Amino acid sequence: MSGILDVKAVRDYMRMCADGVGLGWHERNGGNLTYRMTEEEVAQCRPFFREEPGEWTAMGVWADNLKGEYFISTGSGKYLRNVELEPQNNICIVEINQAGDSWRIVWGLESGGKPTSEFPSHFMNHSVRKRVTEGKNRVIYHAHPPYVVALTYLLPLTAEAFTRVLWKSETECCVVFPGGVGVVPWMVPGGADIAEATCAEMEKYDAAVWAFHGLFVSGPDFDTAFGLMHTIEKAAQIACITLSANGGKKTRQCITDDNIRAIGKEFGVTLNEEILNYRSDEELF
Ligand code: 13P
Ligand code: ZN
Repeated sequence: MSGILDVKAVRDYMRMCADGVGLGWHERNGGNLTYRMTEEEVAQCRPFFREEPGEWTAMGVWADNLKGEYFISTGSGKYLRNVELEPQNNICIVEINQAGDSWRIVWGLESGGKPTSEFPSHFMNHSVRKRVTEGKNRVIYHAHPPYVVALTYLLPLTAEAFTRVLWKSETECCVVFPGGVGVVPWMVPGGADIAEATCAEMEKYDAAVWAFHGLFVSGPDFDTAFGLMHTIEKAAQIACITLSANGGKKTRQCITDDNIRAIGKEFGVTLNEEILNYRSDEELF
């Protein structure tokens, strides 16, 4: 092992940042990524940790099940497009204290800075997703994918309305997110309030749309979390193109509820019945 950048988790993390940039989801410093490291990954990275860790910083939120965990995080105000070029100045590894309420930097952000301003949201969502997935979830990813944001101006801001349009925009969407997608109304970014509202959605869903802002997703690994973001954005893109091309009218034909049930059965996934049974006269698909 010649350096921390040879640790697979760090390499995979950096690749995900670059892939999000490539798809146009990270203008300027938009978006952020956190990864809860395994003990083995922490051990691999430890030789490269600072001799003197940074100061403990209180988060204003607390999670019992994340005491002593280590996270890789993008830096606040840092551009994801620069992660590949200078990882040591744009990302960091933070350790959580034994009280579960503060972080300190043990590697990275060498030219100064702190973890993403959304760290309270990421942290609280890690706590929820770790609990509901019995420890499997490790990735929380926030991006500004344009078509998801565009849809938040058009659809009712509910999980039912969003999920049904997304499921009906591309045949295999209901296999990728059979539980549905939550929706958080517009809120000031970066604080405890948006963290709490997002957590409420993440109890049920592994993705939450932030109105007029972006999308928050979770997953057990980088591929799954990235794939979820990508699938939701692609479906939103198809929905936007279809609605625009059709002048905002009801479409001539669509994927029906029975079609979705048939896909669920064939692929062996449990679909969210509440969403499947939801009806509204406003539906255009
Ligand atoms: P950070 O630069 O602090 O990560 O903020 C970007 C962002 O997208 C906030 O929602
Ligand atoms: Zn954002």
